Amino acid sequence: MKRTIKDLANLKGKVVLLRVDFNVPMDDGGKILDATRIRTELPTIKYLIGQKARVVILSHLGRPEGYDVRKSLWPISIYLSKALPCNVSFCNTVIGDEVKDRIKMLREGDVLLLENVRFYKQEEKCDMKFAREIASYGDIFVNDAFGTAHRKHATNYALARLLPNAIGFLMEREINNLTKILDNPKRPFVAVLGGAKIDTKIKILEKFIEKADTVIIGGAMAYTFLKALNIEVGKSLVQDDCIEVAKNILLKAKELGKKVLLPVDHMCSIGKSPKVYTVSKMLPNMTGYDIGPKTIKLYTNEIAKAKEVFWNGPMGMFENSFFRTGTHAIAEAIAQSKAHTSVGGGDTVATVNLFNLGKKINYISTGGGATLKFLEEGSLPAVEVIQERMR
Ligand code: 3PG
Repeated sequence: MKRTIKDLANLKGKVVLLRVDFNVPMDDGGKILDATRIRTELPTIKYLIGQKARVVILSHLGRPEGYDVRKSLWPISIYLSKALPCNVSFCNTVIGDEVKDRIKMLREGDVLLLENVRFYKQEEKCDMKFAREIASYGDIFVNDAFGTAHRKHATNYALARLLPNAIGFLMEREINNLTKILDNPKRPFVAVLGGAKIDTKIKILEKFIEKADTVIIGGAMAYTFLKALNIEVGKSLVQDDCIEVAKNILLKAKELGKKVLLPVDHMCSIGKSPKVYTVSKMLPNMTGYDIGPKTIKLYTNEIAKAKEVFWNGPMGMFENSFFRTGTHAIAEAIAQSKAHTSVGGGDTVATVNLFNLGKKINYISTGGGATLKFLEEGSLPAVEVIQERMR
C-alpha cells in the first residue's frame, strides 16, 4: 500500500509540491469546457491547506511545443481562486528566482499554481537536473495526477525520487476503484469494450477475457473480430494485421469458457442514408458505422443481468448523429443498470457527459491512457515510485 497524504505528519508550514492533472479541455480563449479534473482534485488541495501546508501546484495542459499562451494554466488559477477558501496565486514560470520568491511569500494554507510544466522540454524527457531544481523548492512531493501516472516525466515521476512523498486522495480513490474491478468484481461481471482500433485494446481485451464473465465488443474493432470469423463486413474499418490477434482472443475466451458478444446487425451507410443490415446480409459495398437494433437489444439485456459493468470505447462513429444510437443506448443501459458501474477512457467519459449520464454512473475514472494502462498492468510507473506506507 502506498503512502497517502493522511500518513504525512506535521505539514504545518511545509512546502508541498503537489502534481495534479489539470489537463482539461479548454477553448483558445481560456474557457474551461469541462472542469471534472479540477473539481475532483479539490479534496486533496483542501486537506493540504487545512493542514496549513504551503501548497505549490504543478500540472501539464495539452502537448505544447514550447510556450503557447493557449495552453497556459492561468485560467485554472482563476477557477481555483473561486473554488478554494484561501489565497491562490499564479506564477508564469516553473523554475527560477521568480518561483523561489513567490514560494517564500506563501503563507501557511496558501496555494501557488505554477505554469504548464510542458512548456519545458525537460519535463517529458524526465530531465533530472530540471527535477532537482524543482525539488529544491519543496519539502514534500504529493502525486495526485492519476491521469498522467502512466508517464515517466520529471514532475510526476522524478520528483518522487528526490523528496519524501505520498499519493493524494484522487490517486488513492482511482487505484482502489480500479483494483477492485480487477481483483474483486461483483458477478456476473460484464466488460463493454469499443473503439476503432483493436491494436490499442489488445492487452485490455486479453485482461477482461480473463477477469470478466462476458466481454461485449462494439465499435469498428468489432469488424476485425467478425472478419476473423470469416463474416462479410463489406468496406467497414478492419485492421487486417490484427485478424490473428482477434482469432487468438476468441480462442482464449473459448478455452476459459467466457462469453464474447459481437454485433448481429449494423447501421450501414450505402450512399447517403443509413440503414440497418443484419450481419448475414452485409454486402461488399457496405460500410458499418454503428451497432444495429438487434445488437443493442442483445447487449443491453446482458448489461441488465450484470452486477459489475466496466465500459470503455464507443459502439460506433458517435461523433456523427446518424451513428450515435448504439453508443447512446449502451450508455443509457449502463446508467439504468443496478450493477456497480464504472466508465474509463477519455472518449467514453466525454460520451457519458454528452448524454448527461455522469451522475448515474457509480465511478467515472479521470484517466484516459492511465486507466487503461492500470487495468492492463495492475500498476503505473508514477505510483510505483511512491514510498510504501509504514506498517
Ligand atoms: C490525459 O489526458 O490522458 C493525461 O493528461 C495525459 O496526457 P498525455 O497523453 O498528453 O500525456
